[in-house]
Amino acid sequence: MTKEQAYQQLLPQIEALVADEQDMIANMANIAAALHEAFGFWWTGFYRVEGDMLVLGPFQGPIACTRIPYGRGVCGTAWAQGQTIIVPNVHEFAGHIACSSASNSEIVVPIRKDGRIIAVLDIDSVEYNTFDTIDQRYLEQIQL
Ligand code: SME
Repeated sequence: MTKEQAYQQLLPQIEALVADEQDMIANMANIAAALHEAFGFWWTGFYRVEGDMLVLGPFQGPIACTRIPYGRGVCGTAWAQGQTIIVPNVHEFAGHIACSSASNSEIVVPIRKDGRIIAVLDIDSVEYNTFDTIDQRYLEQIQL
């Protein structure tokens, strides 16, 4: 199965998972689990917008930094720019926050509700160059 096929199978399942649940923490938890299990990423989770900070939300994988200021790291930069950031090699991203030394590539996708960014979805991989525009296209469809 190609990555695209895997996303095409998974996205309707994710939509169904969250369709009847309004609680965003519960939805973040199930989405992180579904993505993590399907693709075997190193770390899959959410940071929630709280004032001028991103605060750690539901995730799968090793422990992570709890707070990331606006504009800092890949997550804070994706939030500030309002767009997905794909990082093929995290060691070359100025300001990358290394929660785990095992991570080598990363994608961060802002999640909007009513037009405002309310969270970011952050996925880390131990391989380099894991994420591309296919991941971006499907992950950007995820709604809480
Ligand atoms: N690497 C991220 C921090 C979060 S951890 O990867 C889970 C960043 O630079 O924003």
